[in-house]
Amino acid sequence: MTDLSPIPFVDLKAQFSAYRTAIEEGIQAVLEHGGFIMGPEVKQLEASLSEFCGVKHTISCSSGTDALLMIMMAEGIGPGDAVFVPAFTFTATAEAILLLGASPVFVDVESDSFNIDVADLERQLATVTSAGGLKPRGILAVDLFGQPANYPALNILAESHGLKVWSDAAQSFGGALGNKSVGSLARATATSFFPAKPLGCYGDGGAVFTDDDELAEKMRSIRAHGKGTAKYDIVRIGLNARLDTIQAAVLLAKLPHFSDEIAAREAVAKRYDEGLSNIVAVPSRAPEAQSAWAQYTIKLPAERRDKVSAALKSDGIPTAVYYPRSMHLQSAYREYGAGENSMPVSERLSTEVLSLPMHPFLSNDECDRIIAALVSVGNG
Ligand SMILES: Cc1ncc(COP(=O)(O)O)c(C=O)c1O
Repeated sequence: MTDLSPIPFVDLKAQFSAYRTAIEEGIQAVLEHGGFIMGPEVKQLEASLSEFCGVKHTISCSSGTDALLMIMMAEGIGPGDAVFVPAFTFTATAEAILLLGASPVFVDVESDSFNIDVADLERQLATVTSAGGLKPRGILAVDLFGQPANYPALNILAESHGLKVWSDAAQSFGGALGNKSVGSLARATATSFFPAKPLGCYGDGGAVFTDDDELAEKMRSIRAHGKGTAKYDIVRIGLNARLDTIQAAVLLAKLPHFSDEIAAREAVAKRYDEGLSNIVAVPSRAPEAQSAWAQYTIKLPAERRDKVSAALKSDGIPTAVYYPRSMHLQSAYREYGAGENSMPVSERLSTEVLSLPMHPFLSNDECDRIIAALVSVGNG
């Protein structure tokens, strides 16, 4: 009989059973020492993460969104500033810029990599420069679905125009480009520890990575109400954006397994590639890039996508659409974009993409069931 039992999209329960003892002991230790805010596990986690991705500073914080906001605040982004962002992303990327009264300038993405298109970036930059009014300050690139953006090309363009490059690595922590880990590819990198992310905690959490001492110091101050060196010495406007100690303990228990988990995600991606590349557009791999495989996202003809996802659902296979509408068409952001047809690739992708179950505990049998279901709906 055909197996129709539900396959989890992300399996946090399997992960918990695998690391249960270490996670429970880590949480228990915090309950016992009582240092719930900025306890010793937070410092320990920051040191371990810095070592993991080869950077000088890790500033943990309360979410990926706050990580982005802290970078923008520390860089002094504000009204009159333009920050270039891909149109095809999660809302937080543009939100961090808007919260500070600055202007996001949307840039189209590449159809293959889903990441910011450097040729379109040049066009958007030329448009902003010739229009006057806004001061181009930097590029906030996103490593969509886990694969790093083209930082070498972005850095060259940024340097020739006096711009900074920042990275929204909410989906790509654990990935790499050549011999450089995500976290070390831009002036400052934000990531998220949202539970379903490649490295997730059990609530909200995030971090910023940087080699820049001054920026790091500012962000440490910003995450704690803009405090200076003395207690109740407030030197700038800040946030309450610290990472809970309990979440740091959870992350410390998971981190030793993280490289193996990325390898397991890579194995799932390879199995999907082999089984699916003849029937759908599978994710492309940029040269020298190691994706963290937050998502495995295929492309289908727009008129077939909903039928395929419904057929998979009836076979117990969940799918997701990231993202059904690109940012320049969101009602909250429309005034910052040029409307329909201005970002043709992003607009097309939002009708074609479909993300399949992806996590390090996905078995070969489950993977093969998903492939078989896609093959069968393709023939149906
Ligand atoms: C690309 C991107 N940026 C930022 C974020 C925000 O992270 P958080 O949910 O931790 O605030 C996410 C989370 O989904 C994301 O996918």
